[in-house]
Amino acid sequence: MTTPDALPALLAALLDAVGPAGLVTDPDQVRSHLTDWRGAYSGEAAAVVRPASTDEVAAVVLLCRDAGVGVVPQGGNTGLCGGAVPDSSGRQVVLSLTRMRRIRELDPANQTITVEAGVVLQSVQEAAAAADRLFPLSLGAEGSCTIGGNLATNAGGTAVLRYGTMRDLVLGLEVVLPDGRIWHGLRGLRKDNTGYDLKHLFVGAEGTLGIITAAVLKLFPAVRSRATAWVALPGPAAAVELIEVVRALAGDRLTGFEVMSRQSVEFVLAHAAGARDPFAEVHPWYALVELSDTLPDAGLGAVVETALGEAFERDLALDAVIASGSAQVAALWALREGISEAQNREGPSLKHDVTVPVSRIPAFVEQTDRALAAAVPGIRVVAYGHVGDGNLHYNLSKPEGSDDAAFRARADELARVVYDSTASFAGSISAEHGVGVAKRDLLTDYEDPLELELMRGVKALLDPVGLMNPGKVLPAG
Ligand code: FAD
Ligand code: MLT
Ligand code: ZN
Repeated sequence: MTTPDALPALLAALLDAVGPAGLVTDPDQVRSHLTDWRGAYSGEAAAVVRPASTDEVAAVVLLCRDAGVGVVPQGGNTGLCGGAVPDSSGRQVVLSLTRMRRIRELDPANQTITVEAGVVLQSVQEAAAAADRLFPLSLGAEGSCTIGGNLATNAGGTAVLRYGTMRDLVLGLEVVLPDGRIWHGLRGLRKDNTGYDLKHLFVGAEGTLGIITAAVLKLFPAVRSRATAWVALPGPAAAVELIEVVRALAGDRLTGFEVMSRQSVEFVLAHAAGARDPFAEVHPWYALVELSDTLPDAGLGAVVETALGEAFERDLALDAVIASGSAQVAALWALREGISEAQNREGPSLKHDVTVPVSRIPAFVEQTDRALAAAVPGIRVVAYGHVGDGNLHYNLSKPEGSDDAAFRARADELARVVYDSTASFAGSISAEHGVGVAKRDLLTDYEDPLELELMRGVKALLDPVGLMNPGKVLPAG
């Protein structure tokens, strides 16, 4: 897109636009923007800029556009598909939103909070709690991921069952467009039928259509009671039946339903300090079930007990513990949330974030496990996730004692095994993590050609010169 000679002039202009505090030059700091959380993707950048305001973002975009330099938006850099990492050319600019971390407004009567894109998810949760409200998005990276990244990936997490994904939690956006104009769409309206709902173009676009600089998010009444259970299961079929048992009793008080294979839990027990198996015996699968309510004394413990009683009667549960007290609740969630990090300690983690209809989960697991074991005898399948949403993380670790590089070399082949199986159940090859570069080329085979054509049309309309996050999401063609 640009000649190397244009870069020194661009850097000088960027420094002018964002000041010394907005240009990252310390090599250690620069490095942390060039590699993803997993260490699976890395690149080079002409510069890393950290604008402090929407106007500064717009100025950076205009300068990059005039210099023909691609812009890679970045939040907390916790994404799992390489979307926030620049390519290897050294000619892209990483635009980090992490200095834009103001909570602009909290409107209790409207049940909304207006925040800048660089605000860390946990800070939004805390601000909501301080106002006796709930912001429900919750995921393992919440201490470092940002609202901009959550929106750009349409993040899901562990409370989707009740509150939906990020797309369901946003009412309005402020976006810097690829031509440097600012779209002031920060409306806090629950009803607005004035034509196309443009905000949804930017949600899940992974920074390929514009830079989200602020958002109006929905708040909910604070949760005042909770019941959390850890249940040992004979297999995924029991998990699917157990969801129905709990839902029939608890209705939408069922907030989370996560499952974990034994292999997933074993990695956490091996690598996470203080992790403890709630049961003396080893079981093949586990579920973490959470109910919540706005009433302080909603009798949720009794609801869980009734559900578990039915589950034992129907041989759906092998053992169960209901958490007593917040320390035990936290310990059970740590067993679930620790899987990603624990798996990284076991060498390469090949991630496959898929959805199939909930009812097809048992057959999908059986078919996929069989195919993977045939491809790599001894492969360790770390299957877990948000089964209530039909979303499993079908992550793979190498056979014990085998070579990292040899396993990584088979990543594409093994991804095909998982995705072919997913497609055979009418599923999606990206449930909640997005596409980035990890799944970009796979879209050609797994996405409807008409949908791809329409996506290309939207990209061409909003970003005709291909300035925004070049090389991400859309396959060449
Ligand atoms: P980044 O990684 O910085 O960026 C992600 C993408 O968004 C990139 O394409 C980037 O270019 C783009 N982007 C970032 N900011 C902006 C912006 N302001 N405007 C436009 N584009 C932007 N995801 C889930 O959905 N559910 C989970 O349960 C879950 N658990 C996770 C657990 C762990 C331990 C980790 C490490 C990740 C997990 N994720 C999960 C992945 C998830 O996508 C991210 O954690 C989060 O949503 C990304 O936010 P971020 O600020 O780190 O974005
Ligand atoms: C999670 O739910 O823990 C993450 O989305 C999955 C992952 O890290 O693969
Ligand atoms: Zn997840």
